[in-house]
Amino acid sequence: MSTVHSEPAEGSGKVAAGNATVLRSARPSDLAAVLNLLTAALLPVQGVPEGFGEGYAVVEHNGVIAGAAGIEIYGRMGLLRSVVVDSVSRSTGLARSLLFDRMAWAESRSLEAVYLLTTIAASYFSRFGFAVIDRKSVPNEIQNSVEFRCVCPASATVMYLLLSGDGK
Ligand SMILES: CC(C)(COP(=O)(O)OP(=O)(O)OC[C@H]1O[C@@H](n2cnc3c(N)ncnc32)[C@H](O)[C@@H]1OP(=O)(O)O)[C@@H](O)C(=O)NCCC(=O)NCCS
Repeated sequence: MSTVHSEPAEGSGKVAAGNATVLRSARPSDLAAVLNLLTAALLPVQGVPEGFGEGYAVVEHNGVIAGAAGIEIYGRMGLLRSVVVDSVSRSTGLARSLLFDRMAWAESRSLEAVYLLTTIAASYFSRFGFAVIDRKSVPNEIQNSVEFRCVCPASATVMYLLLSGDGK
């Protein structure tokens, strides 16, 4: 897979034709493809359509959505979910690019911290500085999210990453 090119912040630019790989803001029309990726990866989809908006980014390769990641905002906190790359495109750094992009987006929104739940990828997220946190220590607004309340098992690992919170 070729190098990932980021589009302008809101992803309004054209997606390059040919064999380009582009990381851009998600569009409403990407939802079905993202849900397909999540389903194929056995990740939960509950609440994703409702939260699918500017917090989501996708990687598009040859016109096909090859990866996604999203942040839902709760007050000054973010909930990272739906980090997924299609099986044929893995280990080429796509998820890494998506994570850096979403963390920059979270910083630009002056979020204070980003949380996530995972059952199988804790060691992956620890590479980016996410640390395990006790579920009881998670802010109420995050605990009240659909993913926390209804989707992930109580045994899922909760992780968080502190951000500057000042938009820098
Ligand atoms: C986890 C996932 C998003 C990584 O995507 P990716 O684009 O392949 O990741 P990158 O290319 O940035 O990084 C690849 C590295 O991560 C490692 N990795 C991949 N999945 C991992 C996991 N579940 N746990 C720990 N490490 C993992 C790879 O072994 C590889 O290691 P290396 O750099 O030492 O070779 C992808 O495997 C995926 O979609 N998995 C199914 C969905 C999922 O589990 N999502 C995370 C929970 S929300």
